[in-house]
Amino acid sequence: MAKKLRYGLIGCGGCGVGKHLAAYAKYADDVELYAVYDFEPAKAAAAAEKYGVPHVFDTYEAMLADPKLDVVSVVTPNALHAPITIAALRAGKHVHVEKPIALNADEARAIVAAKDAAGTLVMVALNNRFTEVSQFIKRYVDDGHLGEIYHARCGWRRRRGIPGRGGWFTTKALSGGGPVIDLGVHFFDLTLFFMGFPAPVSVSASTYCKFANAPSGGTGTFAAADAAGTFDVEDFAAGFAKLATGASVAFEFSWASNIEREVNYLELLGTRGGLSMYNGELRLFGEVGGALTDITPHVRNTSGWGDNETRHFIACIRKRRQPMAPPEDAVKMMQIIDGIYASAESGREVRMDAVPA
Ligand SMILES: NC(=O)c1ccc[n+]([C@@H]2O[C@H](COP(=O)([O-])OP(=O)(O)OC[C@H]3O[C@@H](n4cnc5c(N)ncnc54)[C@H](O)[C@@H]3O)[C@@H](O)[C@H]2O)c1
Repeated sequence: MAKKLRYGLIGCGGCGVGKHLAAYAKYADDVELYAVYDFEPAKAAAAAEKYGVPHVFDTYEAMLADPKLDVVSVVTPNALHAPITIAALRAGKHVHVEKPIALNADEARAIVAAKDAAGTLVMVALNNRFTEVSQFIKRYVDDGHLGEIYHARCGWRRRRGIPGRGGWFTTKALSGGGPVIDLGVHFFDLTLFFMGFPAPVSVSASTYCKFANAPSGGTGTFAAADAAGTFDVEDFAAGFAKLATGASVAFEFSWASNIEREVNYLELLGTRGGLSMYNGELRLFGEVGGALTDITPHVRNTSGWGDNETRHFIACIRKRRQPMAPPEDAVKMMQIIDGIYASAESGREVRMDAVPA
């Protein structure tokens, strides 16, 4: 049997431990949990104890210098994704980096360049691509059932769901932005993934921050202005993007808004058929024998939070295959995100070739 991959986790917070460590621990035939590191030593120690990880490092540089380590997850605040991923690639490691890949397209391009130079693999932790429903949709679209997809809608709207209010999520220098970069990166990505990831051409967007710092506008859970911590990112965004294929995508993302309930969704409009997925419920729309049809496929979702993606990445490393969530797609996603923020700031449509480098 092939040698086990020695695995290390950088960033032992909610997602690092709850998704990455938990998922890699499930594949004990292939993976040896080898090392952990967190900026806060107590978090690394707790993760090591919970999962029986033998090595707790004091710095990520020391961890990456260990030649026994094969693969790392980077699950830190977003601003550290690019520098740590690039350092890991230069140290010859495979990298499973959380979404968003980086703060912007330039950083994402630097990751692709470092990966190409290193010859190791990078996979972005886009777990929504790896659900059974998503895999079904991808096959269904690729088999041509929708015809030409000319328009899509996607969104993830929360009524009340600001993560780590006042902490790194709401501090632009550490997160890169609000729900656009946190939630949008999941469902915009998924929509483009199904559409074959055409290059973006232009984007027009508005962003708002109406809850966090509202001196008098907030009600209920938002009545008290957040005294502690920073909140300099949007809490809602909406807009419209055009793609190189001529197709368009309308989108909206919120951490907080006065709507009935939280929903994540996408709709694909094709010349032969369409589909929608609302909170994971898939419906297919078409015509049979001159009658309109609405089909509900029985696709069970058993992917777990990170199980399918982790199993896939382990297989990619073993077989030296490019992963299904490559950093090259994430460069295009970050171009759109850069464009959303640039458009919101300028009040104009932004063409991708005009997004500031
Ligand atoms: N794919 C998903 O479903 C999903 C869900 C949640 C979070 N995430 C992503 O995971 C990442 C972490 O989010 P989280 O919710 O776990 O946040 P978190 O705040 O719970 O964890 C972040 C961890 O990083 C540590 N850290 C800070 N600076 C560090 C440094 N220099 N080196 C090493 N560790 C450092 C913190 O101490 C903390 O333990 C983010 O990029 C987020 O977007 C993805």
